[in-house]
Amino acid sequence: MKIAIDGPAGAGKSTVATALARRLGFVHLDSGALYRALAVMALRQAVDPASERDLVHLLGTVQLTPLPDGVAVDGLELDQELRTPAVDAVVSKVAQHPAVRAAMVQIQRQWGQGRDVVADGRDIGTVVWPDAEVKIFLTASLAARADRRATEQGGLERLQVEQEIARRDEKDSDRPVGPLRVAPHAVVVDTTALTVEEVVDRLVNIVRPLA
Ligand code: C5P
Repeated sequence: MKIAIDGPAGAGKSTVATALARRLGFVHLDSGALYRALAVMALRQAVDPASERDLVHLLGTVQLTPLPDGVAVDGLELDQELRTPAVDAVVSKVAQHPAVRAAMVQIQRQWGQGRDVVADGRDIGTVVWPDAEVKIFLTASLAARADRRATEQGGLERLQVEQEIARRDEKDSDRPVGPLRVAPHAVVVDTTALTVEEVVDRLVNIVRPLA
């Protein structure tokens, strides 16, 4: 069974997907971590995030493996370095290239084969698993998402966080391949006024009758 959770930056997708996967005994695939890992590698090796060809070449030289809740590059788990402001600034550029997306979709589908997965991202219900049994579009007001991110990443300036996520949402929504969209038949859940537990309870109630 596949559960797709898509939505804009800072809507709480990863937190909710981790908790939901635990409650259901599924594995969690954090698709954003894959794009972030490629951004980390591009920054490390000074590869131009605008060059599709160079990024595809870079992807061919490393082994990118999803882990439950994370990602490994050549067998080494990446963690803190996935969520730096430098990565936030380039990841949407890295993710806009069709050939990069095609490779990432392939990695995700392969990893998910034969597994019960809760996957979160931007194109899970539209591209990666369009036949997912459950599709959720998790959203929240920009102000709420910026507040959460700023608290989570303590020390970052709130207004800057708001501008960063708004810019990233725009880039993720405007690209021609795999743009951020509400998938057909997705249930839209607005988390602005909900706690993580309330969101997870709501999703469990949607999934349970089908699982
Ligand atoms: O989910 P997260 O904020 O970690 O994703 C980081 C970035 O990776 C997104 O802003 C987007 O550019 C890209 N991404 C994507 N498709 C996905 C998941 C993430 O393009 N399925």
